[in-house]
Amino acid sequence: MVTGGGGGLGTAICTRLSSEGAAVAVVEKEREKAEKVADAVLANGGRSLAVEADVSDKSSVEAMVGRVADELGSLDILINNAAIYPRRAWTEIEEEEWDRVMAVNLKGYFLCARAAFPHMRERGWGRIVNVSSITFFVGWTLLLDYVTSKGGIVGFTRTLAR
Ligand SMILES: NC(=O)c1ccc[n+]([C@@H]2O[C@H](COP(=O)([O-])OP(=O)(O)OC[C@H]3O[C@@H](n4cnc5c(N)ncnc54)[C@H](O)[C@@H]3O)[C@@H](O)[C@H]2O)c1
Repeated sequence: MVTGGGGGLGTAICTRLSSEGAAVAVVEKEREKAEKVADAVLANGGRSLAVEADVSDKSSVEAMVGRVADELGSLDILINNAAIYPRRAWTEIEEEEWDRVMAVNLKGYFLCARAAFPHMRERGWGRIVNVSSITFFVGWTLLLDYVTSKGGIVGFTRTLAR
């Protein structure tokens, strides 16, 4: 299951996982983006499922994970990849915009991991891959909320691993 699977990196991740033999669930907020990548995987002889969902919404995530497990048979690998990165000066970031970036980039990873993990535990195998960003390690202009969320992902990943 690849969140943001219809975006730039997401499309490449879906293509590669399919070429390695995985059935791929392409998760997108916009249905057309998910269908485009899912159709390309099918056209290349792979198995895929397009899923419209908002990773920042708990009920949407739970419905999405249930559908993926039902229709593809299991959920073994979660690639947490969906993120937003609006660019503007940090003094222009409104509170609601800050909250939205954290909801998608940080809470979304937690919600997806939280919902997917029981399926992995049940089968005794699983992998959760969280896409962060080099911008966290160096700092970046015009992306204060985004870079802050990506730093959170580093802590989230290290702690989840333990
Ligand atoms: N592009 C880069 O140079 C770069 C560098 C470092 C890290 N990253 C990371 O790679 C990941 C993918 O980045 P990208 O450049 O491919 O971005 P992108 O914008 O092309 O793709 C992100 C996808 O996530 C989807 N999405 C956004 N909000 C969503 C939501 N609430 N629910 C479901 N889907 C949602 C978007 O529709 C989009 O297709 C991100 O985590 C980003 O932080 C990207």
